[in-house]
Amino acid sequence: MTESPTVFPVCIAGTGSYVPERILTNAELAARVDTSDEWIVTRTGIRERRIAAENEFTSHMATHAARKALEDAGLSAADLELIIVATITPDTPTPATACYVQQNIGASKAVAFDISAACSGFLYAMKMAKRLIASGAFNNAIVIGAEKLSHITNWEDRATCVLFGDGAGAAVLRRAQPGEGAVLATEMGTDGSLTHILNVPGGGTACPITAANVNNHLATLTMLGKEVFKHAVTRMKEAAEIVIERAGLKPEDIACVIPHQANQRIIDAIADRLAVPNDRVFMNLHKYGNTSAAAIAIALDEAHRTGAFKRGDHIVMVVFGAGLTWAAAAVRW
Ligand code: ACO
Repeated sequence: MTESPTVFPVCIAGTGSYVPERILTNAELAARVDTSDEWIVTRTGIRERRIAAENEFTSHMATHAARKALEDAGLSAADLELIIVATITPDTPTPATACYVQQNIGASKAVAFDISAACSGFLYAMKMAKRLIASGAFNNAIVIGAEKLSHITNWEDRATCVLFGDGAGAAVLRRAQPGEGAVLATEMGTDGSLTHILNVPGGGTACPITAANVNNHLATLTMLGKEVFKHAVTRMKEAAEIVIERAGLKPEDIACVIPHQANQRIIDAIADRLAVPNDRVFMNLHKYGNTSAAAIAIALDEAHRTGAFKRGDHIVMVVFGAGLTWAAAAVRW
């Protein structure tokens, strides 16, 4: 997909994130299924993840993250014009989770809708918001990645239950003033021939919710891990290279790479292939596991707040997810 000329430059004005209080450790999982802390850490890099309370919904986590991002951006909810929530675990099939967020934060004049692109959703949403602001259709937007993956996890399947967690992250985008940062380049792609390697088979029209389907774990995530791994590395490398080149940069110009927080070995392989030193690659998956659409958004917020990059630095975000989908963005902070 090619970039058309931007009319108005668009910057990321603020970020926010939220994770639930409850920590689920590898040791606790090892007491439930046939696994060990050693296996999980060696194969994935994950040490613990956060699990939302039963009465804590995706919109609640998204709302916390959104409030923090608005505060960081110095934008009042009343002035917010667009809310896009990326999620595969919405509160309800309809209305969109973004509508609950709009209500919760009091952004009464904002247009609100969800998108479903699995882990790539946050960067898909960022590209859409950037284009809508660049074209002059909106002055600002908040993009939110929020997931309650614990709700669609098969807690009896050791191959998947060790990987996922819950949380939310958000970024406020707005028209940039001269001298401010900018979202320089974005890329996204899809390969629908790979729907079978990572999916939730049940719960939609193809396999409606019935007691039998739920008992057979058809409403939870299934995955061909090795296949996902292979495609993830290839697609993320390509997408990152595309946005780096399109932004007129070289790998050595990138102060911080924020990759999808799915597996330490995937991240190491990407850093290696992009020739970016490991100390410029931001990671928090040891604390949260894979939170799908929330992962890059939470990582961006933590990287921003912990000073992993500073104003004027170039950063690259890159992600893959079910679909298969992938996306990347190069940003001058
Ligand atoms: N504990 C102990 N043993 C395990 C566990 C576990 N939790 N899970 C699997 N095993 C066993 C397997 O049964 C297998 O045993 P066998 O050799 O006797 O058959 C052995 O470990 C090796 O299994 P593999 O699947 O070959 O292990 P691999 O090294 O590929 O690691 C993993 C598995 C971590 C899932 C890896 O393939 C991976 O990270 N893939 C990508 C996953 C990913 O990023 N998914 C994104 C999801 S994004 C979204 O849309 C939500």
